[in-house]
Amino acid sequence: MIVCENIKPDEYNQVVDLAVEVFMEDKFFMKYLPDEQNRRKTLAEIYRDGVEICDKNFGGTLVAKLDGKIVGFLMYFDYVKFRKTNLADFKKIFGVEIQHNHVAPISFAKIHRLVLKSKQNPVYVLAIGVGKNYQHQGIGKSLFADFLKCFEDRVIMSDISGLFFLRLCQKYGFDLAPISDVCYVAISK
Ligand SMILES: CC(C)(COP(=O)(O)OP(=O)(O)OC[C@H]1O[C@@H](n2cnc3c(N)ncnc32)[C@H](O)[C@@H]1OP(=O)(O)O)[C@@H](O)C(=O)NCCC(=O)NCCS
Repeated sequence: MIVCENIKPDEYNQVVDLAVEVFMEDKFFMKYLPDEQNRRKTLAEIYRDGVEICDKNFGGTLVAKLDGKIVGFLMYFDYVKFRKTNLADFKKIFGVEIQHNHVAPISFAKIHRLVLKSKQNPVYVLAIGVGKNYQHQGIGKSLFADFLKCFEDRVIMSDISGLFFLRLCQKYGFDLAPISDVCYVAISK
């Protein structure tokens, strides 16, 4: 049975390894980090920062467990509070383009403009992933549904380059706006 719960500090490494596994073939990262070895190394750095920073900055990581094993994760943060109180970390984590200087800076600015336009304080999904051997069995859906239940009264937002997360957001009626040739921004209504 799938159980979704908050991550424990001794589970950070497992989630980082899982994030590297699931994002190695992500269109966005393949485009901007074409060298496989460099992509693996950079993804480990990005998601190690991701877990720690979400935890410290008004957010966290939900993990999905199957028979006690972590098979999925969802990292999130409070967009406005995080940006207001810790701009340095915010830029580090949120603007992969700023940290690694590979990714078109336009996406970062566009996302921020959409947040300002919405006049809301979104809970931002930094990343969602399910281990390759466990995908397409309803685990991602169950993780996302649990997350949405925790934040029923809030606007949810994310940038999306993966087809199945895009479908999931479409199912929940999110508005989608393209921000590059490989990426959309999704905002709940
Ligand atoms: C996105 C992700 C987390 C979804 O998790 P999952 O456990 O595989 O997804 P689920 O089985 O819960 O299915 C969710 C929805 O995706 C779609 N989907 C899943 N598998 C599918 C398949 N084989 N064919 C078509 N659609 C599929 C469906 O819309 C499904 O909802 P439905 O079953 O009600 O129709 C997972 O695929 C993943 O980790 N992908 C790689 C990382 C990634 O792309 N993350 C998002 C980055 S923006």
